[in-house]
Amino acid sequence: MINDWKYMFSENLKNYGGYSIGKLFKLLNDPEIISLAGGLPSPDIFLKEETRIASHNRLEEEIETIMQYTSIPGEPSLIDAIIHFMKRENIDISEENILITSSGQHGLDITGRLFLDPGDIVLLDRPTFAGAIVAFQLQNPIFVGVDIQEDGPNVDVYKEKVKELSKENKKPKFIYVVPDFQNPSGITMSLKKREELLDLSYEYDIPILEDSPYRDLRYYGESIPSILYLDQKRKGNNVIGLYTFSKLFCPGIRVGYNIGHPEVIAKMTNIKEGNVLNTPKYNQDLCTAFLTEMNFTKHIEKCIKYYRRKLEIFMSTMEECFTEDMGVTWTKPEGGLFLWMTVPEHIDTKELFYEAIKFKVAFVPGEVFYGENPSKNHMRINFSYASEEQLAEAVRRLSKCIKNQL
Ligand SMILES: Cc1ncc(COP(=O)(O)O)c(C=O)c1O
Repeated sequence: MINDWKYMFSENLKNYGGYSIGKLFKLLNDPEIISLAGGLPSPDIFLKEETRIASHNRLEEEIETIMQYTSIPGEPSLIDAIIHFMKRENIDISEENILITSSGQHGLDITGRLFLDPGDIVLLDRPTFAGAIVAFQLQNPIFVGVDIQEDGPNVDVYKEKVKELSKENKKPKFIYVVPDFQNPSGITMSLKKREELLDLSYEYDIPILEDSPYRDLRYYGESIPSILYLDQKRKGNNVIGLYTFSKLFCPGIRVGYNIGHPEVIAKMTNIKEGNVLNTPKYNQDLCTAFLTEMNFTKHIEKCIKYYRRKLEIFMSTMEECFTEDMGVTWTKPEGGLFLWMTVPEHIDTKELFYEAIKFKVAFVPGEVFYGENPSKNHMRINFSYASEEQLAEAVRRLSKCIKNQL
């Protein structure tokens, strides 16, 4: 009889704790709680009828192939649609540059498996997407973080870190960034910093992982070229792009794609063979329908209008409820689904989370968004899911809860 399963687990996973946000979310069952915690797009703007029709047609026409195993790299029709979709961004790719994944999270997992051995170094922003941290953590790397500023991470500090590491004969395996409306901060990296990051990547031969689920959700200001595009323009091949249909179409479908050099994609395909094998054809077909039959341009415009209104309501209620003397600050995102609040240093937002639940409002404590040395006085706020009325009420509850701590 096995008495202690821990000793049976692999070295890599023995101490792996999984997604700590998940445990907090279990506390949010009370329907009176207004949750600003999840990263959920709003079902109000899901293309429900269009998806019903596309689903019906696909099941009528292709039931046998839908029920069968299919191609590991992905459905040719979806790959074609993505090649076309990327042309909007002037990104020129072909079939061998794309791997269809079963979600953005799956793309992160494959990337971590491809590049990381235990003890390898990953450079990332502080804070950064918690899902990426847990995906990479499976390989037991060492995270080296660089603080994010108003216009993206401090690239000079990235450079210093790389130089320091090279003195010890160490080199990071990759730099992971979410340049557009970053999860969790909502911050967008400036063009200058994107170029500087590429310079660094070229100088030291370090791949950049550009994770970009929110790029199309810009509510204010001008779009900034993606790092993948800038890399192509400079005739490099150092960037791997990670994408998902979760935020623009819907997360339930679990389809994403990775874009990169053919050699990288071929290896990623080998990894996919060993984990999910193929992404369900039905799910991929609905994504193809999204890109080819559902007028996605109009849909994106609708999403932008809808989320911008929510962001405006959130921001104006924040201005009303959080007076300067409270010492609370927050980012002003130009797009995406999140913003980042900073409270006075003596407040630990993990403890505040439990207090906030008493006030019937929830957020994600900032500490889960750090690969190392977590900062404790921040929180991630999602403004896409709650209704307009709920958003304003959530801000009022949050301000009362924080006032209580001052
Ligand atoms: C930056 C980032 N990358 C990847 C993902 C994963 O997306 P998916 O739902 O497709 O797994 C998310 C989801 O919140 C995200 O914010």
